[in-house]
Amino acid sequence: MKGLILSGGRGTRLRPLTHTSAKQLVPIANKPILFYGIEALVQAGIKHIGIIVGDTKKEIMEAVGDGSQWGVRVTYIEQEAPLGLAHAVLTAEEFIGQEHFVMYLGDNLIINGVTEFVAEFEQNQSHSQILLAKVPEPEQFGVAQLKDGKVVRLVEKPKTHISDFALVGVYMFDRHIFEAARAISPSWRNELEITDAIQYLIDKGYEVRSHIIDGWWKDTGKLEDMLEANRIILDTMERRVAGSVDSDSRVEGRVVIEPGAEIVNSLIRGPAIIGPKTKIINSFIGPFTSINYEVVVKGSELEHSIILENSSLIDIGGKIVDSLVGKNVQIARSVLRPCAYRFMVGDNSRVGIL
Ligand code: DAU
Repeated sequence: MKGLILSGGRGTRLRPLTHTSAKQLVPIANKPILFYGIEALVQAGIKHIGIIVGDTKKEIMEAVGDGSQWGVRVTYIEQEAPLGLAHAVLTAEEFIGQEHFVMYLGDNLIINGVTEFVAEFEQNQSHSQILLAKVPEPEQFGVAQLKDGKVVRLVEKPKTHISDFALVGVYMFDRHIFEAARAISPSWRNELEITDAIQYLIDKGYEVRSHIIDGWWKDTGKLEDMLEANRIILDTMERRVAGSVDSDSRVEGRVVIEPGAEIVNSLIRGPAIIGPKTKIINSFIGPFTSINYEVVVKGSELEHSIILENSSLIDIGGKIVDSLVGKNVQIARSVLRPCAYRFMVGDNSRVGIL
């Protein structure tokens, strides 16, 4: 069985972060979302993964490499444009050959992995298996209507409410999906929809099984969603202190301090992760905070926040909470006269002041 991860497309929902980087590389608990997908497939026993790439090919390839960091073989497959998930499937036809495969959307996070579903699909001889999750806003997803526990109808981003069950971004297929993807036409958003291809399988009498799962996350572009994913993942981490912690500091609870990080005269209260070579000086880092690599936090307090690499937070007066700070950002107390706020903030940013 092969793996196929879709990492093409354009990131519009997580702007401003995705102005400068692929949405699949946005970190959750300091690790790109895409890596959770790779790990889920590796854990399920997949040895060869194809990754669909588009405009952000270079970045994705730099981050993932040849897959040897996970002991897996990675083949990159270029999709000429993001023309839909079923189009991506067709682009990968040669790579897949006659094998069964798991398709995993590179911007999805499935907390408990996919091992049991992959094993079941390998055994049960169905033509496709899909995962569903109950969501509060199904209109943002592909949704599935069930009858007597079986999927009867799939609609991509329905305008009216037809079901609470969204399609999770993990699908298992045999070669009949290629026939289906060739048979369908582009949707109103000009994409070859995987929902239409699966509907074709159902209509032709092929067996499509489904499972309802918990523990799924998908970006919907809101800061709250990123913080939620960060919370869920941090909550699963074990305490590991590899960096240095001086005698004036305290590290409480499930905290990961990566090698080369320095904690000086500070309190770190988990769950939290402090990235490699990050310096925390005279500060408080509270629960559900992820600080990426080479960040400096000095004379500041923060919690329930995500700080990306190479940024610095210096002598901030109030406490920072519920925040997402991008790469190479500097936030510091103004020393210049007049005593004033000074911003250089990118497009689509949000700033809350006291
Ligand atoms: O996340 C689950 C949802 O994913 C499902 O409920 C929907 O049925 C399914 O259509 C899909 O919806 P989205 O509109 O959210 O898909 P998105 O455009 O975000 O693409 C998902 C991933 O696939 C993302 O990593 C980008 C990649 N992609 C997307 C397209 C359209 C490609 O690699 N090539 C493409 O052509």
